[in-house]
Amino acid sequence: STADNWRRADEYLADTLVGHDPALEAALAAQRAAGLPDIEVAPVSGKFLNLVARISGARRVLEIGTLGGYSTIWLARAVGAEGTVTTIEAEPANAAIARASIDAAGVGERVAIRIGRGADVLPTLEGSEPFDLVFIDADKESNTIYLDWAARLGRPGTVIVLDNIGREGEIVRDDTTDSRVIGTRDALRMLGEDPRFDATALQTVGIKGWDGVAVAVVVGM
Ligand code: DHB
Ligand code: MG
Repeated sequence: STADNWRRADEYLADTLVGHDPALEAALAAQRAAGLPDIEVAPVSGKFLNLVARISGARRVLEIGTLGGYSTIWLARAVGAEGTVTTIEAEPANAAIARASIDAAGVGERVAIRIGRGADVLPTLEGSEPFDLVFIDADKESNTIYLDWAARLGRPGTVIVLDNIGREGEIVRDDTTDSRVIGTRDALRMLGEDPRFDATALQTVGIKGWDGVAVAVVVGM
């Protein structure tokens, strides 16, 4: 089937370009063993985040939605020994799994996990140095709140990556009642209309089916 081909091609690309990675594989095994949902980014997407962070020279990264720390490890590797990743997780049990996996991956000193809902934790980050890159991958209903905070905690030039913009094409279904789809569509409209952002989006197919990411830069405050 087509979906089978997407998955096999994604696995081929991951084998060819990402390769065997014991720390990341251990993080996934720990997450699965703890019964967390397998909704982390695909290996090729994790490496995409790592490359975007390196290409943009990011030293201060903010992640909203830690889950088991898989994408956090990818980002922490990108910021270098002097860099930091602040990652927000609403579920304490997830944060505990993530903490162990991030430490085991050897990047624990770079990563601060803040436990709480994004809308509660984000205001506490005000007043520090601006973030260079923000990865938004949490509850989709809050996406516009997270975009607003990404701009407020960023600076002109801050890179934003927003996960799950395709949702199997559901984003164009006008009759949807799925609050995640509505939250994602609101976020895409905000990225298009709010003068603080310049953005585009890329659809992806692969092991996670048909989805995608929006990529934006903060252009004003
Ligand atoms: C869901 C959330 C995600 O962040 C993702 O990448 C895939 C699915 C979800 O909540 O269904
Ligand atoms: Mg996601």
